[in-house]
Amino acid sequence: MMRGSDDFNIVGGPSPHIPVMLNEVLQVLEPASGKVMIDGTFGAGGYTSAILEKGANVVAIDRDPNAIRDGAAMVASSDGRLDLVHGEFSDLDSIAASAGHGQVDGVVLDIGVSSMQLDEAERGFSFQQDGPLDMRMARDGVSAADIVNGAAQSDLTRIIGILGEEKKASVVSRAIVNARDADPFSTTRQLVSVIEKVLPRKAKDRIHPATRTFQALRVFVNQELQQLANALFAAERVLKAGGRLVVVTFHSLEDRLVKLFFKDRFGMEQGSRHLPAVNHKHATFQAPGKNLIKAAKGEAEVNPRARSAKLRWAERTSADALPADHSIFGLPNLVPLSGFSTGGGVT
Ligand SMILES: C[S@@+](CC[C@H](N)C(=O)[O-])C[C@H]1O[C@@H](n2cnc3c(N)ncnc32)[C@H](O)[C@@H]1O
Repeated sequence: MMRGSDDFNIVGGPSPHIPVMLNEVLQVLEPASGKVMIDGTFGAGGYTSAILEKGANVVAIDRDPNAIRDGAAMVASSDGRLDLVHGEFSDLDSIAASAGHGQVDGVVLDIGVSSMQLDEAERGFSFQQDGPLDMRMARDGVSAADIVNGAAQSDLTRIIGILGEEKKASVVSRAIVNARDADPFSTTRQLVSVIEKVLPRKAKDRIHPATRTFQALRVFVNQELQQLANALFAAERVLKAGGRLVVVTFHSLEDRLVKLFFKDRFGMEQGSRHLPAVNHKHATFQAPGKNLIKAAKGEAEVNPRARSAKLRWAERTSADALPADHSIFGLPNLVPLSGFSTGGGVT
């Protein structure tokens, strides 16, 4: 999720994380006593605490150790109904099994970064504050500095162009490569000033010119598209018949994956626009109602993050899970993250 400067409160401190589309999530997830729900993106626990209040049990996951640390009080007051696990949501089925659950009644994912992550300058997610060029949600592994200092120019162009949807990706990557030889990148401010030089902000620009490059690096560093694709397959395996999968996304790349997944799993194929859709394989999900929901106008007015939110959901059928065939997503073929060495700027 990307946010604007109006998300900071007026005294300059971090704004609390306000859960997005919480009412809609609860409406479709239908948490209740005796049910087990997986919250794959615990964050500040906004969804989890509302689900617990409805009497359900929750297995909550976050890859950020800070989120797990800050959730300890919620675990303590949950009467044993909350398992909070440090891990990746791509493993949500095996995490639920390790927590002693078989098939579950619901899975919810709220994709992106939390307000806490964005507001802490030292995490390096925000181009509005100076900090280390880090962006690792798990605080481990390859950082954004490792990428901008180590990637070939052509790989940078693809990362920024595809994951940031930056039309001038080659201009940005050339400027990065020219700048890093003299002065390797270690801070967000360094990267922002290089981008501002080659993409000066015009009066009509709605967003800062660094927004798209920062988004691209964050998505790449955290392998967010691969994580989401694997989480959708894992949710299909772990949900019982009638269980619900609810995903809230904040940009088109993520929404597209969820849309393609459901389209494939609804088992429908449009042969021709003149013919009705036909079933081409067994459906593992069905849509009992409106499958795409956007934030209500009122919420979008008070919470800027909600403006770009899209909620997609569906209900698991009793059909066996299908193979995890990644070709349904058409994921971009980018340089592997494992090819980068760590510690080049940020440790
Ligand atoms: C938008 S916040 C969730 C906010 C939460 N719904 C709430 O109401 O407080 C997203 C959270 O998901 C976590 N996250 C992102 N990708 C993840 C992944 N692949 N596995 C586990 N957690 C992830 C982030 O660290 C962040 O804390």
